[in-house]
Amino acid sequence: MKVTDLPVGRKQMQTICLTALSLACMSSAIAQQSASLTPDQRADQLVKRMSLDDKHHMVQSYNTMIEKQPPGGIGTAGYVPALPSLGIPALQENDAGIGVQNYPTTKDQNGQPRHVRGEAGNATPLPSTLGIAATWNPKIAFAGGSMIAGEAHSQGINMLLAGGINLTREPRDGRTFEYLGEDPLLASRIDAGEISGIQSRHVLSTIKHYALNDQETNRLTVSSNIDERAMRESDLLAFELAIESGHPASVMCGYNKVNNVWDCSNGHLLNDVLKGDWKYPGWVMTDWGGDHSVNDALAGVDQVSGIDVVSGDSLGNSTETFGKSLLDALAKGTVTVSRLDDMVHRILREMYAGGLFDDPPVVKPLNAAADALVSQRAEEQAIVLLKNDQSLLPLNHSVKSIAIIGGHADVGVLSGGGSAQVWPIGGPAIPASQPPGLATWQWMVYDPTSPMKSLQKLLPGVTVRYDDGSDPARAAALAKSSDVAIVFATQWTCEGIDVPNLSLPSGQDALIDAVSAANTHAVVVLENGGPVKMPWLSKVNAVVETWFPGAGGGEAIAEVLTGKVNPSGRLPVTFPQDEQQLPRPQLTNAQDVDYNIEGAAVGYKWYDEKNLQPLFPFGFGLSYSKFGYSDLHVSSQGDRVTVSFKVTNTGQRAGMDTPQVYVGMPAGSGEAPRRLIGFEKVSLQPGQSTTVTVTVDPRLLATFDVPGHQWQVAAGSYPIQVGHSSRDFVLNGQANVAAAHIAP
Ligand code: BGC
Repeated sequence: MKVTDLPVGRKQMQTICLTALSLACMSSAIAQQSASLTPDQRADQLVKRMSLDDKHHMVQSYNTMIEKQPPGGIGTAGYVPALPSLGIPALQENDAGIGVQNYPTTKDQNGQPRHVRGEAGNATPLPSTLGIAATWNPKIAFAGGSMIAGEAHSQGINMLLAGGINLTREPRDGRTFEYLGEDPLLASRIDAGEISGIQSRHVLSTIKHYALNDQETNRLTVSSNIDERAMRESDLLAFELAIESGHPASVMCGYNKVNNVWDCSNGHLLNDVLKGDWKYPGWVMTDWGGDHSVNDALAGVDQVSGIDVVSGDSLGNSTETFGKSLLDALAKGTVTVSRLDDMVHRILREMYAGGLFDDPPVVKPLNAAADALVSQRAEEQAIVLLKNDQSLLPLNHSVKSIAIIGGHADVGVLSGGGSAQVWPIGGPAIPASQPPGLATWQWMVYDPTSPMKSLQKLLPGVTVRYDDGSDPARAAALAKSSDVAIVFATQWTCEGIDVPNLSLPSGQDALIDAVSAANTHAVVVLENGGPVKMPWLSKVNAVVETWFPGAGGGEAIAEVLTGKVNPSGRLPVTFPQDEQQLPRPQLTNAQDVDYNIEGAAVGYKWYDEKNLQPLFPFGFGLSYSKFGYSDLHVSSQGDRVTVSFKVTNTGQRAGMDTPQVYVGMPAGSGEAPRRLIGFEKVSLQPGQSTTVTVTVDPRLLATFDVPGHQWQVAAGSYPIQVGHSSRDFVLNGQANVAAAHIAP
């Protein structure tokens, strides 16, 4: 096939179908007539009709980030052109950490961002993925996934590169905001919610970056070194559980190495674990440039992503991994045709299962207001109230004047940078900027949703004044002449670069010191990519963690500050006192990162194991109400444990709570003392109670037995604790568990 033959885009195809009974339409009818068959049967039928060229066509996607690409690609990342003669639609792949990504990829002559193609500012950003994890609410994740997929579908995009689930082993990781925190159960339930939400709109989703792609420093070369047992019980468990319930169409293998083998060349991770043990039926795509040789096909890669077009070469760049090299390998038999068939089958079965043949995207206008509301609802549940001395919040009627300081809170809220960047509808609140030395895809963007304006709307009659915080003395003077001073503190993080430490940048600690010295009613609102240090914590009354708040962020923050919304977020990551508490006090700049230091004891498990007191523990978050737990019942049948208990809103306000269930691991098991085994978010009126019942996945009680190649539950009596966080328990019980072996 020639490059010039490539794109008969979906839109053109619809037009053709409307006007004439073309060959394309007949083939499309053939591809669809088998709708009563399973996706696997439909894929089998189609593969049988495909030529070697057709099959080869399916296993590479073009890089749509560059200007030189076959026409017809509309997603911002990858494009597999349609095969009209077989009725196979194009795959239009777009990044989607928090929404339909659409960052500019180049600059104009004035150094300002310029979109190379497509419309700028046509998508709604959700709160950061870490914020979605802080909701502890898979339904919020589903609604968010469904919203962003709706926006994708209405732009002609049928695949979102979403589902980031790398555990927070390194809180300085620039992509911490794109992931779901440190616990495999929480991360997997939220990820599965998001992926299911996306795929409910007939848009495929990835899960990424498989595996242990846990820092950006040396991201293309670094090796994450870790024992099999530890990775099975931590990072791989997160993927396993999320894949099992979210059914992502594709798994994206990462840039890094694991135990010195590239993720995308890693037969153990891909063939043995993912496709073997977990029986994953979908396809493995590489990260963009994550491929290494044609042997990746033998290791389990089904599609190489983001190849460049070389003009006149019908196969893309012939030096590409799955380009001419794959054809040569097929000719030599080093890669068999049946392997190629399997690669194509996996892609097509997901395209069928995901509705891509039966419900192609239809370009239509967005409902921006409704979508922003989905994002706002998510942020309302993502915000974590970390401190509230003397119940300063919610702001009460005695407050007549408020100083708003810093963070561009007069116009917007911060977002994270890189391939998850969503250029908001209406454009950024202030011109996008770039710290020196960064690439054209790394922008600092403020979403145009102003906490200050929303506060003014909710507090008519209150004097609200703004200072940009650039001069601490001036900001302190404003704080002094106000009843309450609210500092908006920001930490920008971005794909491709880690933060050097956990301090707020640009002198913001000094700003908070100055403001809190001038006004004893000081509130800090954090907009940040991940955990930060708070040397000023004892000097301020209240701290509100808002993550990167997304399209309705300004409104949600104001609602929480004024009490219109009762905060209900809980931390999905531990906030350390300082870097000394981390398994690696220094960010590793070497080519090997030793994750055996903490092994499976990621996050709170490390703090428990080492008996460290963090700044804020995993699972922590305050409310304007109070919740009590009672009536614990623990029952077990074999290795199946069920925990039920009563939750009562004992406070004066309606609110949401997330009771958490932890299990104590047997001493001498080599495991960290405690694991999260269940949680549920409940909504209760004052005085109202509900019963929560949690059924525990036995793998959460198990250790991974490497020689026996199985999960192993040791018989015994396991302590069960129900509490408000990983460090605050109210109910204690025991589960008597029988020994069990579970397939890996
Ligand atoms: C990122 C992926 C992303 C891909 C396509 C890579 O650099 O690591 O997360 O999906 O680019 O944009």
